[in-house]
Amino acid sequence: MALIDAYGRRINYLRLSVTDRCNMRCSYCMPAQGVEKLEHKEMLSYEELYRVAGACIAQGIEKIRVTGGEPLVRKGIVPFLERLARVPGLKELVLTTNGLQLEEMAQPLKRAGVARLNISLDSLRPEVFARITRGADLKRVLSGIEAAEKAGFANLKINMVVMRGVNDDEILDFAALSIEKPYTVRFIEYMPTLQDEGWNAQSMPGSEILARIAERYPLLPMVGAEMAGPARNFKIEGAAGAIGIITPVSGHFCESCNRIRVTAAGRMRGCLFSDQGVDLKPLLQSLDPYRLQEEIRRIVTHKPGRHHIAEPEAEKITVNMSRIGG
Ligand code: GTP
Ligand code: 5AD
Ligand code: SF4
Repeated sequence: MALIDAYGRRINYLRLSVTDRCNMRCSYCMPAQGVEKLEHKEMLSYEELYRVAGACIAQGIEKIRVTGGEPLVRKGIVPFLERLARVPGLKELVLTTNGLQLEEMAQPLKRAGVARLNISLDSLRPEVFARITRGADLKRVLSGIEAAEKAGFANLKINMVVMRGVNDDEILDFAALSIEKPYTVRFIEYMPTLQDEGWNAQSMPGSEILARIAERYPLLPMVGAEMAGPARNFKIEGAAGAIGIITPVSGHFCESCNRIRVTAAGRMRGCLFSDQGVDLKPLLQSLDPYRLQEEIRRIVTHKPGRHHIAEPEAEKITVNMSRIGG
C-alpha cells in the first residue's frame, strides 16, 4: 500500500511527537516565559500512539522518527520503542534527542531497536550552549554523544541551528568536528517558528553557511540516499564524517517532502507549517479501525504543496516546536 499526495509525492515517513516536555528550553524553540504544557490526559497514551503508528504503517509508512519536546523524558519510552520497532512493515525506527540523557539511555535505546539518532548541539562552548538552552550543561550532551557511539550507534547526525551573532562564529569548529568524528554535522537555517522580532536577521541562509565552510575546506558533494530527508550533504576531503545543510527557509525541500506528523497533543498534520490537521483522540475512541486509516489518507490528500514562511505577505503562523517535534 502506498500513500501518494495530490502532488504525486510518496509519503512514507511519520514524525511522531511523544511529549511536549523538555529538559532544555532552547531560545529558538520556546519563548523566555516558556510554553503552556499539555496535561497528561491531553497526550496520546502509549497504547494510542502504538495504534496510530500501526495504522500509518499499514498504509505505507516505512520510517518513523520519534520526537518531542524531548522524547527521552517521557516515562516508559524504552519499552514503547521496543514494541514499535517490532511492528511488521516498519523499516526504520529513529529518534531525535537533545542528548542530555544519552549517557544512561544510549544502550537501552540500541537494545530496543532504535536504528539511528539525530542529536541537537548548537554550540561547543559551555557558556554559549548554556545561553542558547537556558541553562543546560554541554558536558552532559558531549558524554551522551560519546555513550551513543559506544553503544554502537553509527552515522550519528548532529543538528546545529545557526544563529547569526549567537553561534555563527562556530561554523568552522562544527565543520572540523566532521573531520575528526564519523558524524554528519548538519547546519540548519533558523526557522521563524516563534515569529519573534529579528528572526530574519538571525537566520543565516544555507548558501552563506556553505560559502564560509568552503572558503576554509574544499567540499565534495555527496549523493542522497532513499528516505534521506532534507539535508544536502558534503564531505571535507579526508574527513571521517560529513556535513549537511538543511535549508527549510531559503530553499525549502517541500517538492520532495515525504512526511506527515503527529503532535504530542494527538493532532495529525500534513506540514510543519500548516494548522490544518485532524484530532486523532476521538477517532481512537471509535471501534471502527478504518476511520483512522481514512483520516490518515485525508491528511495526505490535503497535504500542502509547500510552506510560505519566508514570504513577507504570507500569513504568519507560530509553530509550537516542542509539541510538533520539528
Ligand atoms: P532524517 O532525514 O530522518 O535524518 O531526519 P531530519 O533531518 O528531517 O530530522 P531532524 O529531527 O534531525 O530535523 C532536522 C531539522 O529539519 C530540524 O530543524 C527540523 O525542524 C527540520 N525539519 C524536519 N522535517 C521538516 C519538514 O518537513 N519541514 C521543515 N520545514 N523542516 C523540517
Ligand atoms: N529552526 C530550526 N530548527 C529548529 N529546531 C527546533 N526549533 C527550530 C527552529 N526554529 C530543531 C532542533 C532539533 C530539531 C528537531 O529541530 O534543533 O534538532
Ligand atoms: Fe531545545 Fe528541542 Fe527541547 Fe525545544 S524541544 S527546548 S529545541 S531540546
